[in-house]
Amino acid sequence: MNKPTNAIPFVIAIDGPAAAGKGTLSRQVAETYGFHHLDTGLTYRATAKALLDAGLPLDDEATAEKMAREVELAGLDRDILSQHEIGEAASKIAVMPGVRRALVDAQRRFAKKAPGTVLDGRDIGTVVCPRAPVKLYVTASAEVRARRRYDEIVARGQAADFEAIFEDVKRRDERDMGRADSPLKPAEDAHLLDTSEMSIEAAFQAAKSLIDLALNRNT
Ligand code: DC
Repeated sequence: MNKPTNAIPFVIAIDGPAAAGKGTLSRQVAETYGFHHLDTGLTYRATAKALLDAGLPLDDEATAEKMAREVELAGLDRDILSQHEIGEAASKIAVMPGVRRALVDAQRRFAKKAPGTVLDGRDIGTVVCPRAPVKLYVTASAEVRARRRYDEIVARGQAADFEAIFEDVKRRDERDMGRADSPLKPAEDAHLLDTSEMSIEAAFQAAKSLIDLALNRNT
């Protein structure tokens, strides 16, 4: 296991579209290097859930920003927040600059944790941590991502409709890539990892080589 030897926290930025495998990869990387991990999608989801629970509208930016400022990073529950409706609502409020400002502030504070952090999301390498020494952009074709999501649901013993999931993945991509504020796109200096035809283990090994190189440069 490699540990950074300098005092400055080391940030690994992992971006990419929904269901590309960045969550699994980020958790594995964080565990390997003993770094703190933040799935920033959960911060947008927690904001959306707070609005839904309070019966508040999803299109009132001032209210949504206020909710975003109250999100506690320590209390993010992946199981609850992974519900489909919460993801849809999160994608809607994520277009609001006020919400993004509030959540990016919290994410940047998290990124300062020692000895290092892994943040995954859509705009980590471009906006949240543009100076991160390692930036990965994890992607896969929309069809492969829809297939993975479909297989996950079926593996849980639930019914799934592939065409509906495929349409949903494409709609989510359009919203994430098409918004004016911080659209999903690779940072210019990001390393692209296309997992369409790559196992998670191969993606992890590729990521590890890049991280080890950057850690050696940093020492
Ligand atoms: O990765 P996810 O499905 O949990 O993300 C939910 C929504 O949050 C997604 O549609 C886009 C948004 N998001 C974002 O705009 N910026 C991030 N850094 C992370 C997520």
